[in-house]
Amino acid sequence: MSREWDELADWWLTELESDPTYEQVVVPLLLDLVAADRGTVLDVGCGNGRIMARLKGGELHPIGCDLNFSLLADASRVGSVIRVHLPGIPLRDASIDGAVVVLSFEHFSDEIFTELARVIRPGGWMAAVANHPFVTAPGSASVIDPTDGEVFWRPGTYLDRGETIEDADGRPVTFLHRPLGNLLSLAADAGFLLTTLREVPLEAGGLPDAGLPRLIGVRWARR
Ligand SMILES: C[S@@+](CC[C@H](N)C(=O)[O-])C[C@H]1O[C@@H](n2cnc3c(N)ncnc32)[C@H](O)[C@@H]1O
Repeated sequence: MSREWDELADWWLTELESDPTYEQVVVPLLLDLVAADRGTVLDVGCGNGRIMARLKGGELHPIGCDLNFSLLADASRVGSVIRVHLPGIPLRDASIDGAVVVLSFEHFSDEIFTELARVIRPGGWMAAVANHPFVTAPGSASVIDPTDGEVFWRPGTYLDRGETIEDADGRPVTFLHRPLGNLLSLAADAGFLLTTLREVPLEAGGLPDAGLPRLIGVRWARR
């Protein structure tokens, strides 16, 4: 993957601050998925450590990893951090109990799954919150009926893998689209057993109504 995230710290922090759904939906979804866990957890693409701060203090000991120097500097105030260019993870085989991946899978190449399977101990776990593939397909968008203002959702090329390049305050940021079956198969092939899959609506983001999925919360066991 490219190093475009080297330059995106300010954009991401503004996104975080301007979107209340991060605290209202993303954080509780993730915390619920890891509520019973303990041990060393790698926050993969940890950003400024906002999730690490929420994991710390109980039975979990977070280590953050990210490539963005500025975000990592903030995260280092919360706990230990490693500067990485994922998917490579400079940790020994089976050296951590679990991993969390929050809003980040779309930025990592497929090797992230085998690499996480390598560093998580057998019997360990992985939990992720991600945009639902339903809303990440290239060409997907809300469409407004001009006659009555009703909002529909155009699915785009959902069944194909693809990517979307969005504008981040004048810089490109690439989002990989993996159909749900592809995402789950990559994890299964790498050695993860699906134990929870939550499809979560959100009354925001231009979606027609709250009955459509907007986020997924996923938990796997490392076989
Ligand atoms: C959308 S942000 C999410 C950050 C954090 N998980 C959160 O919830 O605030 C994606 C994060 O992944 C990091 N990232 C993207 N590509 C990366 C790569 N190849 N290696 C390491 N980190 C990467 C970015 O720097 C950024 O912090």
